[in-house]
Amino acid sequence: MLITVQNGTGLHAPTDLAVLVTCEESPLPTEVAELLEATDHRGRFKQTTLLYPRGTLAPRRLLLLGLGKLATVTPDGLRQVAALAVQQARELQVATCTLSLQAHLTLPPAVVGQALAEGLELGAYRYQRYKTGLSSEQTFTVEGVTLYTSADAAALHVGVTTGQTVARATCFARDLANGPPNSITPAALGQAAQELGQRTGLRVTVLEPPQLVEQGFGGILAVGQGSANPPRFIVLEYGQPAADQPTLCLVGKGVTFDTGGISIKSADKMDEMKMDMSGAAAVLGTMQAVAELGLPLHVVGLVCAAENMPSATAYRPGDIITTLSGKTVEVLNTDAEGRIVLADGLFYAQRYKPQAIIDLATLTGAIVVALGPHATGLMSTDQALADQLIRAGETTGERVWQMPLWNEYREAMESDIADLKNASGRYGGALTAAGFLAAFVGDYPWCHLDIAGTAWVERSLKPYQPWGATGVGVRLLVELLRSYGQ
Ligand code: BES
Ligand code: MN
Ligand code: ZN
Repeated sequence: MLITVQNGTGLHAPTDLAVLVTCEESPLPTEVAELLEATDHRGRFKQTTLLYPRGTLAPRRLLLLGLGKLATVTPDGLRQVAALAVQQARELQVATCTLSLQAHLTLPPAVVGQALAEGLELGAYRYQRYKTGLSSEQTFTVEGVTLYTSADAAALHVGVTTGQTVARATCFARDLANGPPNSITPAALGQAAQELGQRTGLRVTVLEPPQLVEQGFGGILAVGQGSANPPRFIVLEYGQPAADQPTLCLVGKGVTFDTGGISIKSADKMDEMKMDMSGAAAVLGTMQAVAELGLPLHVVGLVCAAENMPSATAYRPGDIITTLSGKTVEVLNTDAEGRIVLADGLFYAQRYKPQAIIDLATLTGAIVVALGPHATGLMSTDQALADQLIRAGETTGERVWQMPLWNEYREAMESDIADLKNASGRYGGALTAAGFLAAFVGDYPWCHLDIAGTAWVERSLKPYQPWGATGVGVRLLVELLRSYGQ
C-alpha cells in the first residue's frame, strides 16, 4: 500500500472516499456541519457515519470515523481506527482514499504516523493464498491512502515508514503461521529464511540433520525423528558484535505441526497446531524488520524447526536424550516438545555471549488458561529486561504479563534418572515449562515469552487483527530493539 502524507484537511481534494477522523469534543468540523446532516455522529470510538456530499464537497463519499475522547487517545486507538478505514474503503471498492486527522493529539507525530500505518497495513491483511476462483470483488485491494494532517507532515511520514516496515514484517509472520502444515515444513522455514537473507542481506545458515547430528542437537533431532519432514536449525545474523552494538539473541519455537507425538493430542482442534511455529515466524518477521530499519544492534535469530509426529521412528515417553548442552532429559510426555527443541536453541545462543536472550514459543496450554488471548506470558531471569518488554508491550498493544520463575518451578523439572524431565504435573504448567528452559540459558539475561494464547485468535478481537495468526511478537520485539538500552 502506498501511504503518503500531506498537510491540510483533505476535504477539498476530489476522491472516491475521504475518511474524516472525528472526536467526541468536536464530532463535526464546521465545514462539514454547515453542509451535511450528520447529527447522529458523536465521534464515539469506532463510530462510523457514511455520507454522500453530492457535490457540496470535493470527495464523492465522506466517512466520519470516531476516535473517542481526545484526551484518552492511544496509539492502539489510532491503529484500530485506521484499520476500520481501510476495511471500509475495501468494502466500498475504493482503490485510493484519503484519511484526515485534524485533532490536536498530544502523541508525537512519528508515533501517530506509525500507528496509522500499522493499522492500515494490518487491517488490510487477509490470508487468501488457498482460495481459488475468487472474484475481483473478493480480491479487491486498497492501493493507496493519503493522510491529511495539521501536524508536522515530515515527522508523521517518518512514523509511517517505520509502521509500514513493522506491519509488513508482521504480515510475513502471519502468512507463515496461517500456512498449512503440509506446506510450512521445517525445510520450508529454512527456505523462507534463505529468501529473507537474499531480500535483506541478513546472513543465514540452515543446518540439516547430518550437521545437527554432528554438532549434537539432540533435542531438535529427538522431536523431529518421527517425521518424514526432517528438522532444521536456522541461524539469521544481522550486524556485527561491537562495543557500541549490543548482541541480542531471539530464539523461536518452530514446531511446524504438533500432533503431540506418541503422547498424541485429541482430534479436537488439532488442526490449529499448525501455528506451533508462531515463535519462529515472529523471529523471522522481527529479523526482516531489524534489517530493513537498519537498527544499530547485533541481532541473532535462532529457529528450532521440527515436526512432532507419532510414528515407528518417533521418540517415546521414557526416552532419555542428550541435548546440545550435554544435559540429559527424560521424556515423560512427547507433547512437551517445545521445551526440548528450545533447549538446543537457547544453549546455542550462549555462544554469542549476548546481552539478552529472548525466546518466543507457543509453549503451554496453561498460559492460555491463565491469560487467554489478551496477554503473552513473560518469565524472566532479568528484571530490567523484563521491564523493557513490559513497556514495549504497553506501547505496541502486544501486552505481556509477568509470571514468577521461582526455584521451585525449576526443581519441579528435576528427574530421578536424568538431569531434567520434560513434564511435571498440570499445576503451574507455564511456569514449570519456563523452569525447564532456564536450565539452558546459563547466566545470560533471559526472557521467555509464552505466546500460546496470543499467536492465534479464534475470532477477530481488534479491527487490525483478523481471525487466525496474529504475528504477535514482531511489533513487540521491534519496539524493544528500537528502544533497547534507553
Ligand atoms: N504446542 C503446545 C502448547 C499449545 C497449546 C499451543 C494450545 C497453543 C495452544 C505444546 O507443545 C504442548 O502440547 N504443551 C503441553 C505440555 C504438557 C504436555 C506438559 C500442554 O500445555 O498441554
Ligand atoms: Mn506439544
Ligand atoms: Zn507444541
